[in-house]
Amino acid sequence: MHGIKKAFFVGLLACGFAAGSALAEELDGAAIYKNPAKGGCVACHGKDAKSPILPIYPKLAGQNAAYALQQIKDIKSGARSNGQSAAMKGVLHMITEEEMAAVTKWIESLD
Ligand code: HEC
Repeated sequence: MHGIKKAFFVGLLACGFAAGSALAEELDGAAIYKNPAKGGCVACHGKDAKSPILPIYPKLAGQNAAYALQQIKDIKSGARSNGQSAAMKGVLHMITEEEMAAVTKWIESLD
């Protein structure tokens, strides 16, 4: 009996760890997009990522994730400094590369 209980407990622990690490890898792109402390993307690009505050700001919904991620990195580094990119550059110290990747995955999933 004792042995079975112990095995059950060890099994539960293992499940807990597996769930915990899965959560750490699964950042919520939609939440990051709306979070003012993570760059406040929503403020410029709009709630649905396709109604930007100014017509010259890009619509993001449905954009390819790898492309979008590269654009964010390039705007941050200054490699892309065309058009209005200076407007966005200022917020990019607030977001990690993992968070950028999660946001662009979410952007790609939109219509
Ligand atoms: C202050 C306004 C502002 C904020 C905040 C902002 N952006 Fe931008 N973003 C822009 C502008 C303006 C451009 C277009 C730059 C240009 O003209 O080259 C842009 C470009 C982009 C692009 C490239 C689009 C393309 O088609 O090449 C992506 C992707 C993007 N933003 C994602 C984000 C994400 C994700 C966040 C939040 C972390 C964010 N932006 C926050 C204004 C903003």
